[in-house]
Amino acid sequence: MTIQICSLLFWALFCSTAMLLAIFLKHRKGCGKSDGKLPPGEMGLPWIGETIEFYRSQRDNQLFEEFVQPRITKYGKIFKTRLMGSPTIIVNGAEANRFFLSNEFKLVVSSWPTASVQLMGINSIMEKQGEKHRCLRGIIATSLGPAGLEILVPKICDSVQLYLDKNWNVREEISLYHSTKALTFTIVLECLLGLNFEPGTLNTFERVLEGVFAPPISFPGSKFSRAKKARREIKEMLIKVVREKRKKMESGLGGDEGMLFSQLVSGMIRGEISEEEVVDNVVLLVFAAHDTTSFAIAMTFKMLAEHPDCHSLLLQEHDDIMNKRRSGENLTMEDTKKMKYTWQVARESMRLFPPIFGSFRKAIADIEYEGFTIPKGWKVLWTTYGTHYNEEYFKDPLTFNPRRFEEPIPPYAYLPFGGGPRLCAGNQLAKLNILIFIHYVVTRYNWSLLCPGEQITMDPLPFPSHGMPIKVSLKSS
Ligand code: HEM
Repeated sequence: MTIQICSLLFWALFCSTAMLLAIFLKHRKGCGKSDGKLPPGEMGLPWIGETIEFYRSQRDNQLFEEFVQPRITKYGKIFKTRLMGSPTIIVNGAEANRFFLSNEFKLVVSSWPTASVQLMGINSIMEKQGEKHRCLRGIIATSLGPAGLEILVPKICDSVQLYLDKNWNVREEISLYHSTKALTFTIVLECLLGLNFEPGTLNTFERVLEGVFAPPISFPGSKFSRAKKARREIKEMLIKVVREKRKKMESGLGGDEGMLFSQLVSGMIRGEISEEEVVDNVVLLVFAAHDTTSFAIAMTFKMLAEHPDCHSLLLQEHDDIMNKRRSGENLTMEDTKKMKYTWQVARESMRLFPPIFGSFRKAIADIEYEGFTIPKGWKVLWTTYGTHYNEEYFKDPLTFNPRRFEEPIPPYAYLPFGGGPRLCAGNQLAKLNILIFIHYVVTRYNWSLLCPGEQITMDPLPFPSHGMPIKVSLKSS
């Protein structure tokens, strides 16, 4: 009997220990201390890791060719490294893009460098998650959705024509990249947001943008210090404008409810967002649109210059549209929908020269993916090149072939605008900006590149190293 009781006690003790052990191991896995298999790759020296190689190839605009591709060949599409102190997994391919981009907020959150967060502000949409992100995105989307964009078309047409008349008609040599930057700035601030600033404001914004990816070190004269000073000036200026707008709107004198700035201030009056959120998101929108749209336009012109047959086809499309309109009449949304070939050319240019290389995410849980474990807290970098330059998704990937966009592209293979909940909120505005600018340039000017082999540099966003100088002259009729 005693033996029976003893063996029963033994089994009860054994079973409960085994159960506790199982619960402990399961819990341990969920808490970020997974003992799963890490992807292959080199972590390099403590903190530095492979940062120097990463930056060097980035500066030469060879990030994919010199950093990512050789590691894919050595380790496969998913590999580990250490960048700027952070253990990082670099993932490549449509399936990986889908997995990480669509699991935003669930398994990963976007992760920006310290300088970017400080300069854009902790209240900008890029730092928001979950419900707060959804709320801000909803406000921004009202002006960037179909109805808002329809209102924007004539405004963009006026801005582009005014800019070209004032700056291009009087000169023979133009920096295409700087022109598109100035114009994008006007389109975002004036056309989209409905704000009017003094001419020097662009310089102040540019000083902020110069520091966004700089080391976050403050000493007199450093890029970051200058950027912070400029950011303070912008904040003061915007706070004044926000308060004036609020007063006007509360006394029923808003007047321009369709404009995004009014939408943001309305959200503030309703108590959905704060004054800081309005200010930070105005700065973020300028940043998000500025270098990206300008680079996309510059690369489209580079491709047109290098492919005269494509240029002729594109010109035909624009001549047809122009010939159906009365002289001086603005383009309509319907006209932009007819620019199918132009959009294929621009998409193909962004495939070969994506304005954004990819972006970082941070794992908020241990992630099991493709037989590997990505530990909680590690960074994940998804890349556009990993699919844009891959034969699996794009036949002859290094050949410029706009017509490839006549066929459907596999999901998450073509990602100049990202994907998932953080898909670029301004992608349709960028499209309009690109199409309308191309229309007025190709129908009005003869143009040619002055520096055809100009190098593209990255810092970390890509740009033509000489600002893409072009020769322009007005067409005779
Ligand atoms: C050719 C031009 C553009 C390109 C290539 C581009 C690309 C991108 C990419 C790749 C992302 C996602 C980043 C990530 O996943 O971490 C993004 C986000 C964003 N973009 Fe754009 N963008 C362009 C123009 C614009 C414009 C014109 C605006 C608005 C004025 C804009 C506003 C935004 C915003 C607000 C986000 C953040 C969305 C969120 O976090 O929910 N972008 N953009």
